[in-house]
Amino acid sequence: MNAPPPQGRSPAPGAMASSPGTGAPLLSTRSLSLSFGGVVAADAIDFELQAGERLAVVGQNGAGKTTFINICTGYLKPDGGQVFFDGEEITGRSPREITRRGIGRSFQLPQVFGEHTVRECLLIAASARSRREGFLRPLERSVDADDVDATLSLLQLAPRAHDLAAALPEGQRKLLDVAMAMVLQPKLLIMDEPTSGVSTDEKHGLMEVLMRALDERRVTSIFVEHDIEIVRAHATRLAAWIAGRIAADGPPAEVLADPEVIRNVIGE
Ligand SMILES: Nc1ncnc2c1ncn2[C@@H]1O[C@H](COP(=O)(O)OP(=O)(O)OP(=O)(O)O)[C@@H](O)[C@H]1O
Ligand SMILES: [Mg+2]
Repeated sequence: MNAPPPQGRSPAPGAMASSPGTGAPLLSTRSLSLSFGGVVAADAIDFELQAGERLAVVGQNGAGKTTFINICTGYLKPDGGQVFFDGEEITGRSPREITRRGIGRSFQLPQVFGEHTVRECLLIAASARSRREGFLRPLERSVDADDVDATLSLLQLAPRAHDLAAALPEGQRKLLDVAMAMVLQPKLLIMDEPTSGVSTDEKHGLMEVLMRALDERRVTSIFVEHDIEIVRAHATRLAAWIAGRIAADGPPAEVLADPEVIRNVIGE
């Protein structure tokens, strides 16, 4: 297995400290590539993320944001290149294996179990962690139910604990999707459009709940976001995707002032 790439950028101002004693990136990719027919969805992407960063990802529809997430989390295999997480190469590993190593994710369309209650969804998600010892035992006794209840409170879902997931409004369904990733105790959480489908009025409140929860559990994060006001308010760093490549990456104010980003991503 190849050694992880050397140390890259330092954490953004205001971010949490890196993992003690390392300084190496938490997540990195080297020359990551994937094409679908003639469409280049990932174009030799070199990327590094330090522990403690809150990276926002912007880009037009079809720019390759979800493709990048899907490769990093094992849902797609790249044509070429490598992914490293927490000091080890994870290229081509299964989603389950990558989750176990500490990358959680939420989905553009929340993946919740609609016919179960909110609390049951978390118990089922948590059981993926304790599968071995709890295989034939009732869920309630095979998982850390205290952590499930703490996570429900952390994401302000406790009042909805016994409602069916299918009955939740979109904002709370997004929170539930994140909560299901959080009970697996990730080091890094990648959220694909956590505010899509949520009204403009509710977006900031939703992001505040999410970001507070991630801070409290010291989870590094990447979130895809189309709303520039949300990016300005919540990101320590911004990366702009254009046609399968990272066209600009750095402090949000600088990236948002980049002419190519203004032309291709934000619009005149
Ligand atoms: N499984 C697939 N099969 C074929 N083409 C795909 C597949 N997944 C993505 N693509 C194509 O790859 C390109 C990048 O898609 P991707 O979903 O990564 O974009 P995105 O930046 O997440 O867009 P959006 O903002 O609409 O979610 C698009 O042209 C898309 O049609
Ligand atoms: Mg997408």
